[in-house]
Amino acid sequence: MAAAPFIVREAALDDPVDARAVVDLVDGYAREAMHGGRPLPGDVRRALVPGLAAHPTGFVLLAWQGDEPVGIAVCFRGFSTWSARPLLNLHDLAVVPSRRRAGIGRRLLAAVEERARALGCCRITLEVRGDNRVAQGLYRSVGFVGGAGAPGEALGGRPEQTFFWEKPLP
Ligand SMILES: CC(C)(COP(=O)(O)OP(=O)(O)OC[C@H]1O[C@@H](n2cnc3c(N)ncnc32)[C@H](O)[C@@H]1OP(=O)(O)O)[C@@H](O)C(=O)NCCC(=O)NCCS
Repeated sequence: MAAAPFIVREAALDDPVDARAVVDLVDGYAREAMHGGRPLPGDVRRALVPGLAAHPTGFVLLAWQGDEPVGIAVCFRGFSTWSARPLLNLHDLAVVPSRRRAGIGRRLLAAVEERARALGCCRITLEVRGDNRVAQGLYRSVGFVGGAGAPGEALGGRPEQTFFWEKPLP
């Protein structure tokens, strides 16, 4: 049987269902070994959505498969003094493990780019761990460029080392 189609839409942070999805998805991301391996502390769980809702330039995109939240992109608009244009920072991108490799991450990234272009942003920026080859492969395939460290470097002494990546938007 074919998998149910998924949709991507902006989270309504005042909606309890969306708010719960945001907390659960970020918590699931934080629990993964590569991203800390620990659940979000209770105070962070409680403060996360109110904090995002109060942020002047933040927004969250959610991917849904039926009534199941399956992916998230958390973004913040900044400003480039060198271009005198806004830029968009993609702070978090995650897809639930059971739904990976089905195009959801790529679709979330496309939605982020669509928003960035609509906002007149000069580029999208993000940080990615040197050993996160899967995410780097995805970013590279849609036009991001950035550092990746020497092969194995991040797996050696400094697994937490992150690299700056960006996609210019002419
Ligand atoms: C990175 C992540 C968001 C990708 O989401 P996804 O829905 O699985 O990605 P997609 O199915 O859209 O795949 C897009 C591309 O990513 C790359 N990719 C995804 N999974 C991969 C894997 N297991 N091995 C190699 N490349 C992979 C490929 O380039 C793939 O394109 P292709 O399927 O045409 O070959 C997901 O793996 C994830 O949530 N990882 C944990 C959180 C994380 O690391 N986030 C990024 C932090 S910077």
